[in-house]
Amino acid sequence: MFADLAPSYDLCNALISFGQHLRWKRWLVELSQAGPGHRVLDCACGTGDIAFAFARAVGASGEVVGTDYCAEMLEQGIKRSAGMHVAVVFETADVTQLPYASASFDVASIGFGLRNVSDSRQALREMARVVKPGGRVMILETGQPQGAFMKPAFWFYSRCIVPLIGGFCSGNFQAYHYLHRSSRDYPWGNDFEKLARSAGCFSSIEQIRLASGAAYIYRAVVS
Ligand SMILES: C[S@@+](CC[C@H](N)C(=O)[O-])C[C@H]1O[C@@H](n2cnc3c(N)ncnc32)[C@H](O)[C@@H]1O
Repeated sequence: MFADLAPSYDLCNALISFGQHLRWKRWLVELSQAGPGHRVLDCACGTGDIAFAFARAVGASGEVVGTDYCAEMLEQGIKRSAGMHVAVVFETADVTQLPYASASFDVASIGFGLRNVSDSRQALREMARVVKPGGRVMILETGQPQGAFMKPAFWFYSRCIVPLIGGFCSGNFQAYHYLHRSSRDYPWGNDFEKLARSAGCFSSIEQIRLASGAAYIYRAVVS
């Protein structure tokens, strides 16, 4: 599915989130406290938005590795990096089996990826394993706005409008129906925190609600 979406992925994201997703990704980087000289791993990096934002934060003395298991998504990232003055190394890797040494990164992140992984807990354990104790695992994931107006309005947007916009933009309507279903069924807020705690590798987890709960950033500190 992601191989098929890769060429139109960035445009579809911009349209369905009204450009908000880039702001959320920059915020994730800020909250991670990544700074000059840090080593960062962005998992399920897709076309590289988060990896590029981290590269600007860590500067020339740092290093950012962007990984995904879909070669077509990585290809888009590599193409984009040619026009940028930031260095990201793109590598193929499954987030549930990362080919990196333990405690070798300051920060690991995953944006809108965990929901698509068959075993979220295993992915979180792997990300925590490669991060140094005290380092951060940053997660950006979908949520479900609540409230008398927002809940039905968001449901209608996500169930009916997003598949139309995404479908026309990418030619793959099924993928954007999947986006609605997978977001609806995935834990968010306190339930996600519970899931992350059950991975057994974090000393603290904080959640930051975005756009009335349409998305969340979670900051987990590795124990
Ligand atoms: C919705 S995209 C998110 C891409 C990017 N992080 C972003 O925020 O724009 C989800 C990505 O997760 C990747 N993915 C899904 N399961 C994966 C796994 N087990 N290991 C690595 N990447 C995975 C897909 O290939 C896809 O690129």
